[in-house]
Amino acid sequence: MNPYVNMAAGALLATVFVMMSVSIASEGIFHSPIPEKEGFAIVAAEEPAGGEAAEAAPAAVPVGQLLASADAAAGATVFKKCQSCHSIEKGGPNKVGPDLWGVVDRPVASHEGFAYSAAMKDFSKGGSEHWTFDNLNHFLTAPKSFVKGTAMGFAGLKNDTERANLLAYLREQSDSPAPLPDPNAAPAAPPATN
Ligand code: HEC
Repeated sequence: MNPYVNMAAGALLATVFVMMSVSIASEGIFHSPIPEKEGFAIVAAEEPAGGEAAEAAPAAVPVGQLLASADAAAGATVFKKCQSCHSIEKGGPNKVGPDLWGVVDRPVASHEGFAYSAAMKDFSKGGSEHWTFDNLNHFLTAPKSFVKGTAMGFAGLKNDTERANLLAYLREQSDSPAPLPDPNAAPAAPPATN
């Protein structure tokens, strides 16, 4: 074979080899930060939830005040966010979540035929815990921070007005709507959620 062809082939191979080495090496260099970044991303995703809850807590408007100016009809529109998982008719079917007819003041995790998560059963304290306006207010703001480990895959309603309207709507979906909480009551401390 022509020695020049050999040399050219050798040079080409050498170039390819060098390029491959560089690419492998740079993969090595640039690859390792990726898992780290992913780790950070998870932390960042968790932090706003906890951070917001912590920040929102001191400034939180008492539920009685929220309800004093709430609009149940507007709440029916807000409920559209829940409808994919919850029916709210009397005797309605359980969907991804339990039927919510009469949920205000209903014992937690008590709807017949629904398989609640261990977290929700825990939170129910054997049936003594109820869905008071306060509990609903906290739960619907940030479901996963209030009932850690709940199966409810919903980010939460951070907007006070939206949440208040929704609570007013939930209250009306009942045989005997619960009395409205006192608008002048001092803000209740959120119950410990262990
Ligand atoms: C992606 C589905 C999904 C969406 C959307 C959703 N939920 Fe749920 N919800 C669930 C599931 C699942 C449970 C049962 C949770 C458990 O067992 O931990 C639940 C439980 C509940 C409970 C407790 C009921 C009980 O019997 O103890 C309430 C109250 C509730 N949801 C209200 C709402 C409201 C109000 C909305 C809309 C703002 C909503 N949910 C949106 C799936 C959903």
